[in-house]
Amino acid sequence: MRILVTGGAGFIGGHLAERFVSRGHDVVVLDNFDPFYDTRIKDHTVEVCQNLADDGDGSYRLVEGDVRDAELVEELVADVDYVYHQAGQAGVRPSVEDPRKYNEVNVDGTLNVLDAARKTEIERVVFASSSSVYGKPEYLPYDEVHPTTPVSPYGASKLAAERYVCAYSEVYDLPTVALRYFTVYGPRMRPNMAISNFVSRCLNGEPPVVYGDGTQTRDFTYIEDVVDANEALLTDDAADGEVLNIGSTDNIDILTLAEEIRDQVAPELDIEFAERFEADAEHTHADISKANELLGYEPSRTIREGVQEFVEWYRANRDWYEPLVLES
Ligand SMILES: NC(=O)c1ccc[n+]([C@@H]2O[C@H](COP(=O)([O-])OP(=O)(O)OC[C@H]3O[C@@H](n4cnc5c(N)ncnc54)[C@H](O)[C@@H]3O)[C@@H](O)[C@H]2O)c1
Repeated sequence: MRILVTGGAGFIGGHLAERFVSRGHDVVVLDNFDPFYDTRIKDHTVEVCQNLADDGDGSYRLVEGDVRDAELVEELVADVDYVYHQAGQAGVRPSVEDPRKYNEVNVDGTLNVLDAARKTEIERVVFASSSSVYGKPEYLPYDEVHPTTPVSPYGASKLAAERYVCAYSEVYDLPTVALRYFTVYGPRMRPNMAISNFVSRCLNGEPPVVYGDGTQTRDFTYIEDVVDANEALLTDDAADGEVLNIGSTDNIDILTLAEEIRDQVAPELDIEFAERFEADAEHTHADISKANELLGYEPSRTIREGVQEFVEWYRANRDWYEPLVLES
C-alpha cells in the first residue's frame, strides 16, 4: 500500500511510519519539523524508519513541508492509497498562548488534507483526534456520544477538525475515521509530558513534580496499542464515517502514576507538588467498547507494564533522549 503519514516525524506519526515500513508498505512522511519540542527526537525517528526501509521491503520518503501548503498536500495525497493525518500542533497549555496557530495548523491543515482526498481515489483518511474534545465530564468514562465542550483552544481546534472529517465523509462519501487518542506514551514520546518528566527526574535523584493535588485522572495509552488500532484501519472498513475512543482500560490518577514510577525507579524519593494549570483536563477516561466492537481494539498493557517498558527503553536510550527531556 502507498501511505501518507502527515506529522510522520513526530511521536505517534513516527511509530505509524515505522510499523508501516516494517510491514513492507511504501510510506511518505510530510512533516515541517515544528520546534514545539527538540527536533533531534524527530531526526532519530526518521533515521529509524530510513534504516528499516533500507533493510526491508518497504520504502520511506521524507518530505519536509507544511500541511498548511494546500498545493503540496494535494500533490502528495494524489499519489497514495491511505492518509494518516497526524500532523498537528499538540499541547493544551501552549494553545492558550497562541490559539490562532492551533486553528491554522489543526483546522486549516486538516481541511487541506480532506480537500485533497476528495479530489482523488483514496481508500481512507484517518484523523488523529483527541480526548480534549470532551472538556468537562458530565459522566465517566466518556463514550463517543458524550457532549463535546472543549475547555482549551487546542481541544476546540481538534473538535472543529474532527467535525470536518465527519462532514466530508457524509457529504463527499470520503471514507474517514477519527480516532480520539487518550494521552499516548511510550518510546520517543514528547519530552514535555508527565511520564517522561517523572522518569527523568527519578533517574536523576530528583522528586517527581505533580501539578495540582494529583487527583486528576488519565487514561494513559501505550503507543503500540495506538499503532495497532491505526493499522487495523488499513483493512477494516467497519469504522468508516465514525469517531472512536482509543484509550486504555487502566485509568489512573497522576499522584498514583508518579508514585508508581518513583517506586520502580527510585523508591527513596518524595513527591513534589506545584500549581495546577487551568486548561488541563480534570479527568479523562475512555469507554473503548465502540472501538472494541468495530475493530476488535483491546489495550495490551496495564499502566504498570507500559511504564516498565518505557523505563527500560529510557535507560537504553538515555544518552541521546535524556538531554532533550531535561532541556524541555
Ligand atoms: N500524544 C498524545 O497523547 C495525543 C493525544 C491526543 C491527540 N494527539 C494528536 O495526535 C497527533 C500526533 O501527536 P504527537 O503526540 O505525535 O505529537 P508530535 O508533536 O510529536 O507530532 C506532530 C508532528 O506534526 C508535525 N507538524 C506540526 N505542525 C505541522 C505542520 N504545520 N505541517 C506539517 N507537520 C507539522 C510536527 O513537526 C510533529 O512532528 C497530533 O495531531 C495530536 O494532536 C496526540
